[in-house]
Amino acid sequence: MLSDSARLKAHWSLDPEVAYVNHGSFGACPKVVLAELHRMQRELEDEPGTFLCRKATDRLAAARESLGAFVGANPEDLAFVSNVTEALNAVLRAMRLNEGDELIVSNHEYNASRNVLDFVAERAKCHVVVVEIPFPIDGPNIVVERMREAITPRTRLALVDHVTSATGMVMPLKELVEMFHASGVAVLVDGAHAPGMIPVDIETLAPEYYAANCHKWICSPKGAGFLYVRRDLQHEVRPAVISHGANCGLEGNARFREEFEWMGTRDITPWLAVPVALEFMGTVLPGGWDEVRARNHALVVEARNLLVETLNITPPCPDAMLGSLAALHLPEIKDLKPSVATSALGLDPIQEALFHDHKIEVPVLVCPDSGGRIFRVSAQLYNTIDDYARLAKALQQYINA
Ligand SMILES: Cc1ncc(COP(=O)(O)O)c(C=O)c1O
Repeated sequence: MLSDSARLKAHWSLDPEVAYVNHGSFGACPKVVLAELHRMQRELEDEPGTFLCRKATDRLAAARESLGAFVGANPEDLAFVSNVTEALNAVLRAMRLNEGDELIVSNHEYNASRNVLDFVAERAKCHVVVVEIPFPIDGPNIVVERMREAITPRTRLALVDHVTSATGMVMPLKELVEMFHASGVAVLVDGAHAPGMIPVDIETLAPEYYAANCHKWICSPKGAGFLYVRRDLQHEVRPAVISHGANCGLEGNARFREEFEWMGTRDITPWLAVPVALEFMGTVLPGGWDEVRARNHALVVEARNLLVETLNITPPCPDAMLGSLAALHLPEIKDLKPSVATSALGLDPIQEALFHDHKIEVPVLVCPDSGGRIFRVSAQLYNTIDDYARLAKALQQYINA
């Protein structure tokens, strides 16, 4: 009989040889969700006209309905997008910024998201104000304090993570939104990692804009993200790609959704598979989504403790700031063999060595605070503590005595 963890792991098609502790980067889609995706792709190809012109509207509405219930938003105010990068581009590139406006972002922001902020700021002669958040950090209050200090009468918008990318910290989003709103600053949330990792209730958080991925912690197929825009702002937010929606005759939120969800012909089945992923992940454990999140959090805390003890390093943030990602500073590493010391994809040599020599997939990243190296572990249902024990043992071999 399969153990509980073997039963869970069997739901994914991940290479059994690899200790895959990098769910955070690209997610991983369970087999049943992929099967439904492929079934829908067949259905699309069997009758493309019917699928895209006759059935899509109702099926997208049903998919938005399940997603809206999961993330605490009226489904009419959500539009499916391919990913967070696309959603943030749309919001930022559509903003009418004035010369001298200030845009706040933290030093932990994901590179692609930061790039689009810099791009629009340069074009409109605005200033990007980078708030330095330390790592190690004692607690979330420091984030609120540092962000508060950055606000000036010229601040227009804050781009805020719900969960930071490289450092994997859950941000005090409710406090941040309230603080920015008290100064009249609009908030664009980069929620790439949040849905499925931590409870998300967009209407309670009440930002102007919230962009997130389903292909990370909801475990949908790749190419499924969403953009929420507060209703009174939807007419201003236009996708980077203008298509039929622009003169389709629809108005208000119907036009907002139409513009985002039809940017020319494409495969919409990853979006339609979102409810299947929500349903599968929400029923695979008896306690539903709450148990998934709690189990992943408990595992990442246990994994971090193990790594901290084995490698003699200090945890850089309190457990309470973790969801199901944990980043740690990488101890000093011995020189690596030249065969693994370079990578065309720009991966850190130690990441490559761990993968090629030990079959461990773990991202090694740049610490936004010090510029040093950090590594980040993820915990998803297919992981067990053995994955992190293997990582700790492998890392010990590279650490300078
Ligand atoms: C915080 C954050 N924002 C944005 C993204 C970009 O996600 P995508 O590549 O799906 O657009 C990521 C991806 O890891 C992320 O961690």
